[in-house]
Amino acid sequence: MSLKNWDNKTWLSSKRYIQSFNSFLIKQIKLNTNSHILDIGCGRGKIIGSLYSKLRLKEKPTGIDIEIHKDKDKRINFKKIDAIRYLKNNNKKFDLILIKQTIHFLSFKEIKKLISLCKTKLKKEGKILIFTLETSKNEIPTFLLMKKKLKISLNRDKKIILLLSKLYPSIKKRKFTFKVRILIKKYIQMINNRYISILLNMSKNQILKGIDEINNKYRKTLIFNDKLICLILNK
Ligand SMILES: C[S@@+](CC[C@H](N)C(=O)[O-])C[C@H]1O[C@@H](n2cnc3c(N)ncnc32)[C@H](O)[C@@H]1O
Repeated sequence: MSLKNWDNKTWLSSKRYIQSFNSFLIKQIKLNTNSHILDIGCGRGKIIGSLYSKLRLKEKPTGIDIEIHKDKDKRINFKKIDAIRYLKNNNKKFDLILIKQTIHFLSFKEIKKLISLCKTKLKKEGKILIFTLETSKNEIPTFLLMKKKLKISLNRDKKIILLLSKLYPSIKKRKFTFKVRILIKKYIQMINNRYISILLNMSKNQILKGIDEINNKYRKTLIFNDKLICLILNK
């Protein structure tokens, strides 16, 4: 099963989220109208599409993903291709390579390969920004089975962060937090749409039971922080 519903009409595709995320981005790296940007696992490409407008980029940012979305952002240059394959067969260099909530889909071997390839595709002052879910004190609303799976997934993420910190000791760590307010009705829809990878392999029954639990556990509006760790790597 694939992750088509990740940013499908959720807070992750809201104008407020994208603006807040992009303000954070441009605090971490100097970008201007001449910047060349690559987004690995771009989904619908709304984030780099919005950066295209905000920075008045001369060249459309490149977004790659193994999934193609009918409603992908028109301001990006989209390629449907696997990340490693793209990097192996392309000589373009970038000021920013963004890898947001995508690295956990890869094996450790692939992650090592991906990042070493990314390093060769950076311009002199270029940076790789990797975003992944905050691994401790995560506030994502969950039901019991989802919580168990999230814990396993976050433990693996911790190992990914450790691996990258060992391979690249000069790596910097920052935090991005976004306050989410969402109606429980809407959040249940997201769960039904399996918006997050830990839901992808659950049975229909497990999802329905989970939705029942969520209905009993939370009030009409869910308020929580969506917290990400940002790893920054230079050339
Ligand atoms: C959780 S979504 C994140 C989307 C977007 N970066 C965001 O944060 O809104 C992860 C994306 O990574 C893509 N993906 C997974 N494995 C990939 C690979 N090997 N190469 C390129 N994209 C991949 C998925 O198809 C999915 O669209």
